[in-house]
Amino acid sequence: MEIRVVENTKSVECDLLVVNLFEGETTTSAIANTYAIQQDNFQGKFGETYLLPTYGQEPHRKVLVVGFGKKSEFNPNKLREAVAKSIKKAMQIEAKTVAFKLEGVEFDYSEQFALGVKIADYTFDKYKSEKKDNHVKEVFVEANESEIRKGEKIASAMAFTRNLANEPAQFATPSELASIACDLGLETKIYNKDECEKMGMGAFLAVGRGSAQEPKFIHMKYSVQNPKKKIAIVGKGITFDSGGLDIKPASSMLTMKDDMSGAACVLGVMSILKELNPQVEVHGIIAACENMPGCSAYKPGDVLTAKNGKTIEVDNTDAEGRLTLADALCYASELGVDEVIDLATLTGACMVALGSNAAGIMGNDNDLVKNLIKTAERSGERYWELPLWDEYFDSLKSDIADMKNTGSRWGGASTAGVFLKKFVKDVKWAHIDIAGVAFLDKPQKELIKGASGAGVRTLINYILEQ
Ligand code: BES
Ligand code: MN
Ligand code: ZN
Repeated sequence: MEIRVVENTKSVECDLLVVNLFEGETTTSAIANTYAIQQDNFQGKFGETYLLPTYGQEPHRKVLVVGFGKKSEFNPNKLREAVAKSIKKAMQIEAKTVAFKLEGVEFDYSEQFALGVKIADYTFDKYKSEKKDNHVKEVFVEANESEIRKGEKIASAMAFTRNLANEPAQFATPSELASIACDLGLETKIYNKDECEKMGMGAFLAVGRGSAQEPKFIHMKYSVQNPKKKIAIVGKGITFDSGGLDIKPASSMLTMKDDMSGAACVLGVMSILKELNPQVEVHGIIAACENMPGCSAYKPGDVLTAKNGKTIEVDNTDAEGRLTLADALCYASELGVDEVIDLATLTGACMVALGSNAAGIMGNDNDLVKNLIKTAERSGERYWELPLWDEYFDSLKSDIADMKNTGSRWGGASTAGVFLKKFVKDVKWAHIDIAGVAFLDKPQKELIKGASGAGVRTLINYILEQ
């Protein structure tokens, strides 16, 4: 699909013209609006749509009036959602060419417009033998060209991430993630099992031992001259989480191909950096492996030694993400970066706490956490801070090792957080638990079911705003 920036969308020959109506506004220049209000009492409530024909009297064959809700409540996030809704509607009526005439919007909507259009256009149909071609081919808009192109780039990074997280675990293996990383054209180092062993990554390697898939530790680097800042982003990369010997019930295992959504986010962000050209050095780090109960699997009661020398008693093999992240965070702490940000589908507890509407965020630096929350908000995501008090560590105390990998059921997102904290050294760090938001079981706002690309927009904007 192409987005074309033009001077006057009303004169474009197309299948559909989309116009907006704010709730309670009766005077508007668009005739369609006046008609919708007067003939059918269309109120312009947020997300409402009203379709009417033009009987060959206009260059566009139909008009879609979209409710933008109360003007005082309107913002860029609502704009993106309404635009996405319009595109979905256009797909339903099989409009191939769609023009937008947006009036009374008092901010530069270009970037969010492009995001709304492109996110709505996403489908994952590569395994359908018959593909529906209901996609819109051309979109016309009066907007700022460079902001449109920026929005498109962010959307394409999101699609990259969503494709990876939607991909079945049989294909999206650790080796596959490594080869995708190598194809991004960045400076990339892949460490195989032996090399990880030499680095002392005993926690990460233990998790991968029950699988026939070889674990891969991935380090990508985007560099610039005189970077303003150095940031490492670390993604949980469990390509399938069966739970290991503490095996999951079937219903919980069903979507566990998504347990590499953090890694998919990191790859998506890294994939677009050369095009966006931020003046920041960015390291992308993924400890990729599969958590399976094969005959070499790690066992409850085993004691593992992480890269920093700390010992961990395995209390539950299903708390594997924190073990892989432990070594990845040790590695990231040694890069000499200013900030480390990890993203992980880490705990069901975070999902219980926040549902699919917000990711949990915690960290050791208040400014970093607050800034990420702010950037998420303006990027169309929600992060909600959870505490990292030392007391959460009490239940992780082990009789025979430095700690256990799980403790009390209660406060599980924070317990996981304080566990990770033990492996972060001398660097500002934030941990984003995306368990509830990475993979949707029903459509939500502009997103369809399945992988959501969680974290991508926020991290890209965060990197760009440095
Ligand atoms: N990958 C899961 C967390 C998860 C749950 C992600 C639901 C997405 C949706 C993680 O590895 C896990 O199994 N966590 C356990 C931890 C427990 C054993 C302490 C959990 O949350 O139940
Ligand atoms: Mn698990
Ligand atoms: Zn997991």
